[in-house]
Amino acid sequence: MKTRVTELLNIEYPVIQGGMAWVADANLAAHVSKAGGMGFIGAANAPAEWVKEQIHIARKITDKPVGVNIMLLSDYADEIAQLVIDEHIEAVTTGAGNPSKYMKAWKEAGIRVIPVVASVALARMMERAGADAVVAEGMESGGHIGEETTMTLVPQVVDAVNIPVIAAGGIGDGRGVCAAFMLGAEAVQMGTRFVVAKESNVHQNYKDRVIAAKDIDSVVTGRSTGHPVRSLRNSMTREYLDMEKEGVEFEKLERLTLGTLRKAVVDGDVKQGTVMAGQIAGLVNKEQTCEEIIKELMKEVSEVYNSHNKLA
Ligand SMILES: Cc1cc2nc3c(=O)[nH]c(=O)nc-3n(C[C@H](O)[C@H](O)[C@H](O)COP(=O)(O)O)c2cc1C
Repeated sequence: MKTRVTELLNIEYPVIQGGMAWVADANLAAHVSKAGGMGFIGAANAPAEWVKEQIHIARKITDKPVGVNIMLLSDYADEIAQLVIDEHIEAVTTGAGNPSKYMKAWKEAGIRVIPVVASVALARMMERAGADAVVAEGMESGGHIGEETTMTLVPQVVDAVNIPVIAAGGIGDGRGVCAAFMLGAEAVQMGTRFVVAKESNVHQNYKDRVIAAKDIDSVVTGRSTGHPVRSLRNSMTREYLDMEKEGVEFEKLERLTLGTLRKAVVDGDVKQGTVMAGQIAGLVNKEQTCEEIIKELMKEVSEVYNSHNKLA
């Protein structure tokens, strides 16, 4: 499948593995790229040395391009913004803000810049600032979310900008990929499905929880604080939501979730930890290699296209 995104990133399939704090390390990202998609190392709040080390590990696994996802609110954002230039990274995705201040330097270094957006206004702003594409991420996604759904956001962003749009949020199989393309997207970004990839280093308890999840098992915490996060329901989310209902102050809520993603990903505490995953977790029901995931997606895409052509 050739689209403006596959051309832009020089990849075989229009499938991107989204940057994921604690989850998207070199092993996962490199294996997605090796399988013909494009993986992104999630820099999140990690120091630049960790990101550098991961880039080097990724390059030992594959000579295909691997990107870096930069969380703009990170204390290390400036250092990582320079690191991707020094390390000749092909593409960056950015989250939690506006990457305009880095745009000139990144463009001069030939880096493809792909901000993640949750609104038409931010997509337009990013295009004006020189972005090469945008990820339009709906609130079905795991992790930090906006308020629009993928179904409503993607076509509106597609109409608003001329750069290619990558759809994210709630895509877990070939039907989802086709639906995203029907809305005008030219690639998809997936997170939840790759959390359970064989090459994903998250604790087995985390993978098992995602695999066992049903359609209604994710909840959104933090709406009252303006920082909504989607994760799978457990003791921690119940306690958090109760506290939100009681109007407990921001600092107390923050304290409850401090370090809890690590607790779930590394320690496997899926009761008190934050098991970030999207609504599509209900459809994600097996652990597969990145190559199997991408091959299966593409096979399903052609099956969907063929059955529609028969109907037409
Ligand atoms: C565990 C987890 C952690 C995530 N961390 C980040 C992150 O650090 N930065 C970011 O831009 N997006 C992050 N995301 C969002 C993903 O990159 C991706 O856009 C999203 O998962 C797509 O929706 P899906 O989960 O329905 O596939 C995270 C998602 C998950 C599931």
